[in-house]
Amino acid sequence: MTQTAARTAGERQAAPPTFRHFIAGEWVESAGGGTFESRNPADTRDVIGRFQQGTKADAAMAVKAAETAFPAWRATPAPKRGEILYRFGALLADHKERVARAMTREMGKVIAESRGDVQEGIDIAFLMAGEGRRMFGGTVPSELPDKWAMSVRQPIGVAGIITPWNFPIAIPCWKTMPALVTGNTVVFKPASDTPHCATLLVELMAEAGFPPGTINLVTGTGADVGDAIVESPDVGVISFTGSSETGKAIAQRAAKRLKRVSLELGGKNAVVVLADADLDLAADGILWSAFGTTGQRCTACSRVIVERDAVEPLLARLEHGARRLRLGNGLDDAVDVGPLINAAAVDKVRGYVDIGRTEGELVLGGAAARGGDLANGHFFAPTIFAGAKPMDRIAQEEIFGPVLSVVPVADYGEAVTAVNQTRYGLSASIFTRDVNAAFRAMRDFETGIVYVNAGTTGAEVHLPFGGWKETGNGHREAGHAALDTYTEWKSIYVDFSGRLQRAQIDNQ
Ligand code: UN1
Repeated sequence: MTQTAARTAGERQAAPPTFRHFIAGEWVESAGGGTFESRNPADTRDVIGRFQQGTKADAAMAVKAAETAFPAWRATPAPKRGEILYRFGALLADHKERVARAMTREMGKVIAESRGDVQEGIDIAFLMAGEGRRMFGGTVPSELPDKWAMSVRQPIGVAGIITPWNFPIAIPCWKTMPALVTGNTVVFKPASDTPHCATLLVELMAEAGFPPGTINLVTGTGADVGDAIVESPDVGVISFTGSSETGKAIAQRAAKRLKRVSLELGGKNAVVVLADADLDLAADGILWSAFGTTGQRCTACSRVIVERDAVEPLLARLEHGARRLRLGNGLDDAVDVGPLINAAAVDKVRGYVDIGRTEGELVLGGAAARGGDLANGHFFAPTIFAGAKPMDRIAQEEIFGPVLSVVPVADYGEAVTAVNQTRYGLSASIFTRDVNAAFRAMRDFETGIVYVNAGTTGAEVHLPFGGWKETGNGHREAGHAALDTYTEWKSIYVDFSGRLQRAQIDNQ
């Protein structure tokens, strides 16, 4: 038995710990008294802990705490706010391994990827800490003499932050760091599949010195906690990452109050492989993008659009590579692919495989994996379909699992049409040695992210992250574009002429 397995078995015997909400700087129980469990998707006998089943009243308390903390936080000089972000980033770096291991245990991704997830959190903390000393506005000349014109960013107030389980540290950090550095206070509702990661994150934020009430954590369902945050008249901005369906429901609710909403939703990301490509490199990039995180990334590649001459040799490489992927508990360094997040995800993927069998040719996988060590987890074999058509459901709908469809096309023109013929537009990539084709793709793909000679995943935090069409609603996370979500612009005019000067009238 490995050390990890021994420890997991030991943990299983002890009663699972109970965790609490974090409201106004205190760890508190739900007013409703209910709790729910979080279990390890690689071995569902392993209970990580019990978490507060948040209620509307809990959410209201958290909003109140955030509102109360807002005036003092807003008045704190931004560079001072940034210093707390620096401290948080450094603390997260100190605790990287512990948090990464907890992440793998709670949501299944392999440990190297969990470390990468935590690293994204550290990176955005440091990037946004620097914004404390930048947060550029604009100064422009006035059209009148002896008059000064400038614009500054100001915080909105309370930010409601609702996050998914697939990047349980990175995504909450992408949202909370820009929200906080710009002077907002936060109510954070994590996915019900990853409340432990959220708790560890907020513990470190409290330790870093964010004042009581600036960051509040409420666990529970979207229907209870999420809706209460979205509906609250005292929450000025919502940032949500998750399904397009939920995102649309949030946008509709928030529209009643003309509340700002930033949405990061689904994807159906394509890799285009032209016949001149380095096919070994393309296969490596596709396998990583399709089966990394068990396909549970909004940037995951789920369709490969291939020029016909390259289909056979590429498929052979994909099949060979995918067969060698080792499924298992992600804490084992030798494992390549962890479990799906829960039983519902297994059912959903299985349903799409059934659809795929009627649309394309199943080349590999196609079933839940239950043998040996996998018996108690939500594992699904890496699955490849060949001969899919651009408008097939498996080539159009987000599956969020380890299912890849290969779509043959005649040429670059057909490939671009196929890439863009989808309701989503997050990420797309092209493998080619033809520099002209690469530049055409950079111009032609209707996506927020384009990769050349790399897979569809791996966006870096200092560039804007987000998608076109139904992937989002025009906002961007990360980069300095993230500041736009959490700030209002204020244009300020100072007239030092000592007389009435009328813009547009006295400037002839
Ligand atoms: C997501 O799946 O929601 O580029 C985010 C990537 C990661 C982020 C994915 N840095 O794949």
